[in-house]
Amino acid sequence: VRYKLTIRPLEWVNGRVKWLDVTRLPFEEVYKESSSYEDVARAIERMEIRGAPAIGVAAALAIAAAVYNAAADSVDKLRELARRAAERLRRTRPTAVNLFWAINRMLRVVDSATSDPEEFRRRVVDEALSIMREDIEANMRMGELGSKLIDDGDVILTHCNTGALATAGFGTALGVIRAAWYEGKKIRVIATETRPVLQGARLTVWELAKEGIPVTLITDNMVGHVMSGGIVSKVFVGADRILGTGHVINKIGTYMIAIAAQRHRVPFYVVAPTSTIDLETPVDSVVIEERSPEEVRTVMGRPITLPDVDVMNPAFDITPPELVTAIVTEKGVIYPPYRENIAKVVKG
Ligand code: MRU
Repeated sequence: VRYKLTIRPLEWVNGRVKWLDVTRLPFEEVYKESSSYEDVARAIERMEIRGAPAIGVAAALAIAAAVYNAAADSVDKLRELARRAAERLRRTRPTAVNLFWAINRMLRVVDSATSDPEEFRRRVVDEALSIMREDIEANMRMGELGSKLIDDGDVILTHCNTGALATAGFGTALGVIRAAWYEGKKIRVIATETRPVLQGARLTVWELAKEGIPVTLITDNMVGHVMSGGIVSKVFVGADRILGTGHVINKIGTYMIAIAAQRHRVPFYVVAPTSTIDLETPVDSVVIEERSPEEVRTVMGRPITLPDVDVMNPAFDITPPELVTAIVTEKGVIYPPYRENIAKVVKG
């Protein structure tokens, strides 16, 4: 079975970064283009570009665009510029580790010895393009491995958007669902709307509808009820950071779904490339992004409460390892005990 790339949210076009502004979906398909790392940084902050792998790839492309377009004729000046771009891009979002992984990978090339500006530019651009290409390859490999966990007739619940729109193309958890569909499995998807930014309702529904994959939309607070009715065969979600202990940091609401899944004996699978795995950080040190209270006080810009009500808006939560059935990576499917098996897969 050949997998296809039907949606490209990020591209490198003549030395510029091109992205699909996903804040406008599903109503308008608007593409933007820039060679400025500041523009890309703002696009990540505004969530025009979002999803853990996608923000990593976008940051790498932004560093490459800065270097590619700079008039500077010395490697020292180009290096300085690349480091400035990296520092700015690091400050966009704190939780998804793919961002830091991609930036650090770019900085290793930036630091590598060469005194020829053209050679330097070529190395930096090549590295960014490799990061983008490898992300798509990892997604397709996870699709192959993960679709083995899906049976004909399964009803799969997913959260947020983990599709082509959250990556360089194809997707993580939604990539697995897409792969199973391409392989001819008759599956159905239940997508949670994913308040406050509605990535499920706006993006996952759009992606699945585009491919003709049957999808049913529910609000986030319906998950327990829907599972207790026995209609969910499996849960597949993505991750923004997976710790060496097996803790899964993902879109707010994931933890609640994992608890409901355990209560109803529904397998709970996490799909993420190894660039999402963080063997260094202990669970207490993970920074959970707190976003603007306006996202909670409004729905798509329209007020739904008193303008000054106190709100909480953590963008992610932490699912403990005991609620996770398995983790699908491009290097293999990882089962408990995670403390041993995650490190083995990452290092091996
Ligand atoms: O805040 P977002 O939209 O960037 O959060 C995205 C998610 O939580 C996804 O589930 C996660 O990035 C993994 S998907 C590739």
